[in-house]
Amino acid sequence: MSSGSDPFPAWFTALEARHLSRLTFAEVRRGLQALSALYVDRGKRLGTGAALEGSGKRAAFALFYAPLHFLLVRDVVRALGAGEAGPRSIVDLGCGTGTAAAAWAVESGSGCRVSGVDRSGWAVAEARWNYRALGVRGRALRGDLSKTALPGRGSGILAAYTVNELDDAARVSLLERLLAAARRGARVLVVEPIARRPFPWWETWSAGFRAAGGRDDSWRFPVDLPGRLRLLDRAARLDHRELTGRSLWLT
Ligand SMILES: C[S@@+](CC[C@H](N)C(=O)[O-])C[C@H]1O[C@@H](n2cnc3c(N)ncnc32)[C@H](O)[C@@H]1O
Repeated sequence: MSSGSDPFPAWFTALEARHLSRLTFAEVRRGLQALSALYVDRGKRLGTGAALEGSGKRAAFALFYAPLHFLLVRDVVRALGAGEAGPRSIVDLGCGTGTAAAAWAVESGSGCRVSGVDRSGWAVAEARWNYRALGVRGRALRGDLSKTALPGRGSGILAAYTVNELDDAARVSLLERLLAAARRGARVLVVEPIARRPFPWWETWSAGFRAAGGRDDSWRFPVDLPGRLRLLDRAARLDHRELTGRSLWLT
């Protein structure tokens, strides 16, 4: 469990300065509206990388969804006790801007190192900046998560908002590899949103995790967002008074 102070407020202030020096609030808001429309249309276009095309959508992902993913994953990690006797290292599959694994690392203590992998060069650069700004020891590399070696004992493996973006073959192979990594002693955490229509693959993954002794949870956490996030939330007609999500967890 983390013994340090909360890095979120200072990091978010720096993140705001970084992105609002490049784009106006209205441009980020338009990017957020476009990105949120893609999220609603999940599965059809996100896997193609459309979510990270264009400066507005990128800024919205970095300034809006990245902090939300940090906060949700931190709450999930706390609820599961996943940071206790924390992993020494975390492999973050489809790390995006890196904040989900950074949250787990912060909860796991200062010795924990993150290795992020993402096919987007923009996301990798953003993840590197976020690790530094959050005080997390980490590196992010561009690559295909299907080819990333998975660690065993003493390590954590995270796939946050990533599994739904894979094609069926990659998803089937990743499930097998994650279950094998857990048998070698890794702790595996998968996080996804609670979708209006449940993802067809979730039941298969849930059954696989539960058969191996893991758990499947749905979460709802109250949240008090920083002012700028509340403004973006309202402007994009979203409603994040609570953070919700679902997770699979296997140790
Ligand atoms: C919705 S984002 C989530 C990012 C991050 N995990 C988070 O929680 O904010 C999904 C990420 O997965 C990446 N991705 C999708 N398929 C991938 C693959 N086969 N290999 C590496 N990265 C992939 C995308 O580039 C994108 O950054």
